[in-house]
Amino acid sequence: MFTLIYIIFATAALAARLFLNEPDTGFDPFIPGGGGLTPLNEIFSLADFDASARSYMSLRNYSYYRNGAAGEWSYRNNLEAFGRIRLRPRSLVDITHVEESLPTSILGYNFSAPFFIAPAGRAGYGNPDAEKGLLRAGEAANVLYIPSFGATLPLEDIVAFKSPGNEYTTFQQLYIDNNDTNVQSSLRRIENAGQKAIILTIDSPGDGARSRAERYGVGSADTGLTLLTWERFSKILNMTSLPIVLKGITTVEDARMAVSSGASAIYLSNHGGRQLDFSPSGFEVALEIHKQAPEIFDQIDVWADGGVRYGTDVLKLLALGVKAVGLARPFMYANCYGEDGVARAIDLLRTELINDSANLGLGDIKSINSSYLSLEYMNYNGWYTR
Ligand SMILES: Cc1cc2nc3c(=O)[nH]c(=O)nc-3n(C[C@H](O)[C@H](O)[C@H](O)COP(=O)(O)O)c2cc1C
Repeated sequence: MFTLIYIIFATAALAARLFLNEPDTGFDPFIPGGGGLTPLNEIFSLADFDASARSYMSLRNYSYYRNGAAGEWSYRNNLEAFGRIRLRPRSLVDITHVEESLPTSILGYNFSAPFFIAPAGRAGYGNPDAEKGLLRAGEAANVLYIPSFGATLPLEDIVAFKSPGNEYTTFQQLYIDNNDTNVQSSLRRIENAGQKAIILTIDSPGDGARSRAERYGVGSADTGLTLLTWERFSKILNMTSLPIVLKGITTVEDARMAVSSGASAIYLSNHGGRQLDFSPSGFEVALEIHKQAPEIFDQIDVWADGGVRYGTDVLKLLALGVKAVGLARPFMYANCYGEDGVARAIDLLRTELINDSANLGLGDIKSINSSYLSLEYMNYNGWYTR
């Protein structure tokens, strides 16, 4: 009898478990009726930008940004994975200069923070000025912006938003098709536009099944199967003098391959859960590498993204040895407000990062290591037992 009651209660408790796209921090009363944007001075976290954009954007356009592949398990897992690992703060440390340690060199270029604006297509869905606000806010804060090859505007128009005389560095994301002549001409375009590195996306040889967006005709732009092999990558490396970063590494095996392949950095990512459902979040891949081949973090620069919404998410990735952390959706939602919104998003994350570092007991953000994480619940695979 007792067992039966227990099972009924346990089932009810499990059924009641909700996925939180963003935690309830009391934002709802600040969403204006009539579909307008919540005033920027009432936005206090990156999660607020999602809620604000959701009430402002058309369902079609919001669905394109918000979409994940198939059952969206990876989309949800990207957000939830960070919650499985606790921090281990240290006290009574002089943290008063931690802000000075935020600037980070990425592929030899100096930026003001260890986070960046990840490539995301179709900024025009959130703002008529499309990618302008992303570039301008990135430039003003000297935070790296990587325009998508599927941007609303041609890449030449995006880099033309840079202020004259400003040395702001941007990199370019690239999708390839099966035709080497097309690849060569894309590489020339990127070089001629002055982009300083190529972020080659390798997680999309097939199409992403995106039902949420397909209902509105805004699913994946991919068509057909793309030849993406290590041999082809080696050929592409010889077609350009620019450094190439491999975006979409999801296993320690591929990370090892990338180290010997001539890649300039690796980018751990499951494409925001938009391509292969049940592929691991960038954070989980970083944990796997930390557990099985930690030397990789010394052999090659490792970047990561997926579900990063808080300063503590950034710190958890840095603690494992990740050098630069990407965010896509938060900046796309913030871009509904244009440059001011993206600037506020950058400022909020930067301020969180400084305060979280201080409260974690870091005098220098670059001194963070895995002893600041509670990893004892990981099993041998890098997955979790709790
Ligand atoms: C609307 C949208 C468009 C995207 N477009 C691209 C793209 O063109 N190329 C690419 O490599 N990744 C693309 N991504 C994936 C992002 O670069 C990034 O890996 C991922 O979204 C990070 O997760 P987050 O959105 O939770 O921060 C896109 C993501 C979103 C949300």
